[in-house]
Amino acid sequence: MGQKNSTSIDSDRQRDLLARARAAAEHAYVPYSAFPVGAAVLVEDGSIYTGCNVENASYGLTICAERVAATAAVSSGHRQIVAVAVSAPKVPRTTPCGACRQFLNEFRSTTSDMVVILDDRDSGEPVCLDELLPQAFGPRDLDTALPADVNSKPPRGNHGG
Ligand code: THU
Repeated sequence: MGQKNSTSIDSDRQRDLLARARAAAEHAYVPYSAFPVGAAVLVEDGSIYTGCNVENASYGLTICAERVAATAAVSSGHRQIVAVAVSAPKVPRTTPCGACRQFLNEFRSTTSDMVVILDDRDSGEPVCLDELLPQAFGPRDLDTALPADVNSKPPRGNHGG
């Protein structure tokens, strides 16, 4: 809704991004699930940042590959992710989990959708984030929110008088 679709990027870039995601999966720290995942994000200036899943003995602290890659990009100063490739060697076409879809949505461009490249064991299958997370809630919703004082309590001494 309101997002322009762009379900593909240049095929050389797509191949490169997928190769980087596959390579990142080799570093996955997965002693509990034995399910490695790698991700590579392409940002607005053409650079690529990668991540793998990092698990923890306190299971809930596990971080998915996509969020590791996105935070690497953001902590290097980027705010716009153009495309992301995801590779799980054990399961072809693994898609980002719900939390990662929302996390990625934060860094989607205002003018085009984000391309998500799934590892189909071939040259990659591009889908758009809007397909994976329709009618998403994002930063632009807060821009249009009503002023913060709308729901605040009336000032003291002014209770219905
Ligand atoms: N995982 C990811 O890294 N990305 C996803 O999108 C799906 C799930 C990880 C989390 C956990 O380490 C393992 O895969 C099994 O859920």
